[in-house]
Amino acid sequence: MCKLMRLPLIALTSCPAEFWGDVAKDFFWKTKHTGQFLDYNFDVTKGEIYIKCMEGASTNICYNLLDRNVHEKKLADKVAFFWEGNEPGDELTVTYRELLQRVCQFANVLKAQGVKKGDRVSIYMPMVVELVVAMLACVRIGAVHSIVFAGFSAESLCERIVDSQCCLLITADGFYRGDKLINLKLLADEALQKCRDKRSSECLQAHRPGFRRDFGSLTFSVCVCVCVCVCARVCVQVPWNPEVDLCWDALLRGVSDECEPEWCDSEDPLFILYTSGSTGKPKGVLHTVSGYMLYTATTFKVVFDHQPDDVYWCTADIGWITGHSYITYGPLANGATSVLFEGLPTHPDVSRMWEIVDKYNVTKFYTAPTAIRLLMKFGNEPVQRYKRSSLKVLGTVGEPINPEAWQWYYNVVGEKRCPIVDTFWQTETGGHVLTPLPAATPMKPGSATLPFFGVVPAILNESGEELEGPSEGYLVFKQPWPGVMRTIYGSHERFESTYFKKFPGYYVTGDGCRRDKDGYFWVTGRIDDMLNVSGHLLSTAEVESALVEHEAVAEAAVVGRPHPVKGESLYCFVTLNDGVMYNSELEVELKKQVREKIGAIATPDYIQNAPGLPKTRSGKIMRRLLRKIACDERELGDISTLADSTVVEQLFQNRCCTAV
Ligand SMILES: *[C@@H]1O[C@H](CO)[C@@H](O)[C@H](O)[C@H]1NC(C)=O
Ligand SMILES: *[C@@H]1O[C@H](CO)[C@@H](O)[C@H](O)[C@H]1NC(C)=O
Ligand SMILES: *[C@@H]1O[C@H](CO)[C@@H](O)[C@H](O)[C@H]1NC(C)=O
Repeated sequence: MCKLMRLPLIALTSCPAEFWGDVAKDFFWKTKHTGQFLDYNFDVTKGEIYIKCMEGASTNICYNLLDRNVHEKKLADKVAFFWEGNEPGDELTVTYRELLQRVCQFANVLKAQGVKKGDRVSIYMPMVVELVVAMLACVRIGAVHSIVFAGFSAESLCERIVDSQCCLLITADGFYRGDKLINLKLLADEALQKCRDKRSSECLQAHRPGFRRDFGSLTFSVCVCVCVCVCARVCVQVPWNPEVDLCWDALLRGVSDECEPEWCDSEDPLFILYTSGSTGKPKGVLHTVSGYMLYTATTFKVVFDHQPDDVYWCTADIGWITGHSYITYGPLANGATSVLFEGLPTHPDVSRMWEIVDKYNVTKFYTAPTAIRLLMKFGNEPVQRYKRSSLKVLGTVGEPINPEAWQWYYNVVGEKRCPIVDTFWQTETGGHVLTPLPAATPMKPGSATLPFFGVVPAILNESGEELEGPSEGYLVFKQPWPGVMRTIYGSHERFESTYFKKFPGYYVTGDGCRRDKDGYFWVTGRIDDMLNVSGHLLSTAEVESALVEHEAVAEAAVVGRPHPVKGESLYCFVTLNDGVMYNSELEVELKKQVREKIGAIATPDYIQNAPGLPKTRSGKIMRRLLRKIACDERELGDISTLADSTVVEQLFQNRCCTAV
């Protein structure tokens, strides 16, 4: 008695196995699963943490994403991707048939290079079709891809290659990001050189006896080095070393476009994706085959209300989990047509997004709050230059969206016609875990609303007790769903201590969350982003939201600064809208605004005009650095993920020294 109910307010919590078992019938299985559908231990006090979904069943995701759509579902000539380049007019169309052929060809190339099932392959590429081809070619032969966002430095790339012991690197010659030419091959070469330098020390000790499951060969024979170039689309001087570099086009010449898929167990590793730890080295989040496939396919279908004639566009980069789950896996599993965009929302001008929406008649659009706030700064005119009449559902991802940006997205971009799906999830969760369902869940601006089917959240207080009704505390999950991560590559111990040790019996997200009287969830940001002002816990997100509601403010970030009496004081950074001047009058207004919205306890102690904020390359504000600025500490630690370091210098120069 637990079929997928179209009654959206009923989260399906009682028998997820039956629900997911029905979903699994829509996929191809070479052999059936043997054990329980979903088997797990979430309690460290009872032994090792594990999650297994459909263990014993074998399948291949690439086969499910491509072959079945081409051969069984008659989608061979349907467009899989409209590729839109950095420059308007630079475009390509790829059908499901073409994608399948290209993936099979490249899979054969990988095999010819000696890549086997279980081997790790590092991919460092811009948003070109070849990136999708490379990742699915790995999947076809059972190799594990580890995609590193092409905005990361050589040092970061090397660190990730070494950590996952990749045997091959796939990269491109170069590309333009906006006006800026990125010579990617040069960075890739630098990374490989660093790997060779480290080889003697780290590679030799790479055999890790503590690693509990057999995720492929652990002997570190090569620290890598075949380099494949996409094509010379841009004029860069590509350094070329014939001993290690191979050219993509040359390798494909004469290669068959048929390749038998490698059948993999449900719990074989699918990919590794690194996420920065707040301390220490990045964590290689590992996802496995079947659970991830079922989960991304289903969340995509339900959360975007996918219809066969949709044109879907997710603006994320495939180098992030959003691009893995909701550009590649989820959409292709549903036979969807997507836009694959290489460029930036501001290039050549701030209308680019809406121009693309009209060009392809995009129906479902998925982007990040940081992009919305960025575009909001330029007012309504650049949006209204285009019709956007095809849009039906708007989504957000990456961080909680502040109500101000939500309203603009809803009223101006969607003209009050399009429901907004504010999706909360993480690299670790694999797919959406808290989200509205479009036109079914009543929306509240800034709330990710309710859990997805089979997801069981709870809010805990500091002592680990579950809070009932309206409350605020730690967001945790009580049981797994098929798409949750399985381990941290190479360190199951770190996996357990990061996510399961603090509150035994629960998966701990690390995010704070409030539940209102209607049971809606409001994620307030990383729990380390809470402030303790005179014993009152304040979420920085709430203060930021109050600041951004002022018409002069485009973006705000709030951090704590130690205070002898109050414990912590509020140090606020504000970025103003285009053309607005910063002055003391505005400062007074901002203080008043926060006091009125939240209360006297939240009155800002310092406000600094910040023309730019330090952000990661994925657009997340780096609060850690802002705290350093607030406290005038110049030891910055690891800033490899920082997009633009000049911003930090500027902020140091204009620090506030006295409270306002
Ligand atoms: C988009 O829709 C308009 C009008 O509905 C139509 O004229 C146009 O051909 C469509 N464009 C594409 C690329 O389908
Ligand atoms: C929450 O934590 C406090 C101690 O920190 C405890 O006294 C209280 O009973 C806990 N539980 C609830 C449900 O508030
Ligand atoms: C907040 O700070 C006060 C001291 O200023 C401390 O006694 C209290 O335990 C802190 N509360 C939390 C939840 O950290």
